[in-house]
Amino acid sequence: MDKVRWGLLSTAHINRRLIPAIRASARGELLAVGSRSQAAADTYAAEWGIPLAFGSYEALLASDAIDAVYIGLPNHLHAEWTTRALAAGKHVLCEKPFAQTLAEVDRMTAAARDNGRVLAEAFMYRHHPQTKIAGEFVRAGRLGRVQLLRGVFTFRMGSRDNVRLRPEWGGGSLWDVGIYPLSLAQFLLGGPPEWVFGDQWRGPSGVDEAFSGALHYAGGAMAQISSGFGVPYFNHFEALGDEGRLVFTRPFNSLERDDRRLTFIDAAEAAHELPVPEMELYAGEVADMHDAILDGRPSYISLSETRDHVRTVLALYESARRGERVYLEEIS
Ligand SMILES: NC(=O)c1ccc[n+]([C@@H]2O[C@H](COP(=O)([O-])OP(=O)(O)OC[C@H]3O[C@@H](n4cnc5c(N)ncnc54)[C@H](OP(=O)(O)O)[C@@H]3O)[C@@H](O)[C@H]2O)c1
Repeated sequence: MDKVRWGLLSTAHINRRLIPAIRASARGELLAVGSRSQAAADTYAAEWGIPLAFGSYEALLASDAIDAVYIGLPNHLHAEWTTRALAAGKHVLCEKPFAQTLAEVDRMTAAARDNGRVLAEAFMYRHHPQTKIAGEFVRAGRLGRVQLLRGVFTFRMGSRDNVRLRPEWGGGSLWDVGIYPLSLAQFLLGGPPEWVFGDQWRGPSGVDEAFSGALHYAGGAMAQISSGFGVPYFNHFEALGDEGRLVFTRPFNSLERDDRRLTFIDAAEAAHELPVPEMELYAGEVADMHDAILDGRPSYISLSETRDHVRTVLALYESARRGERVYLEEIS
């Protein structure tokens, strides 16, 4: 096998970012799409030039023509379809948020292990050079001791008829976009917080339409993260240490083109631009799956990191519900 043959599980909006990334790679090819209706699958396959169209997710998973699937389903369906895909012998790249409970994460992880297949969380920004260069900068001690982190991801929800507003489908701004700064803090500090404090504003449907979280780490570092559905599109992150601060411009996503930047502002307030090579945002996660499947390399984002993303989100929601700090060890 020298190429991974991909199938898309659903006609999700987000597919449009994965499709060019698969097609740009010499190690993958897009072979199929599966949808809940044959008509939708046929229309989508014709629009995107995809050879095979299946009228159910089960039919796609039963096909021997597919090695790996991309799961861009609504959040509450990630665990079920990931587990089913792994049981059918497929490798899986599953969108964030990976799952809604730790029990689901553990079931998905066990299914990957038991079936000997690759499973990874699709956190595209983690594979971008901007994030990797920042990680190296922090780990080389260039910021000194990192003390404070702050990150935000917001956008204005166009329609009220959006899956992100449905509580029973894993809706909410923290699950949807707050998990980005949360995961970047975890990456830079090398692990999850010890305890968290969460605060939320819940809209009419019951999901958090704005969330603010304080995260406390072993060693004394603290992070503040914010997310929201009600203010214009914005994402930003800063890491502050003894020696200065690292400012991430558009760390998670940019609407038009890859224009992310990293700026180190030293203790004398002088700004130093760190060169960030351009890379198609979704190319890295696809290349990583190809390396894991074809070369047997471990996935760049481990399932234990993924478990901690979910655990921290759950702790923050629990804290917001109770109105008090929650230790991560309480979340099981
Ligand atoms: N990494 C990123 O940059 C990024 C960006 C956006 C979204 N996401 C993630 O990707 C996932 C999908 O988001 P999206 O905005 O692309 O979603 P979407 O356009 O609403 O698509 C979800 C797809 O799920 C399928 N589906 C199955 N059961 C459904 C149901 N009961 N109701 C509605 N759809 C159902 C539908 O496909 P069929 O009709 O073909 O079956 C639908 O097209 C989410 O988990 C989100 O967090 C990630």
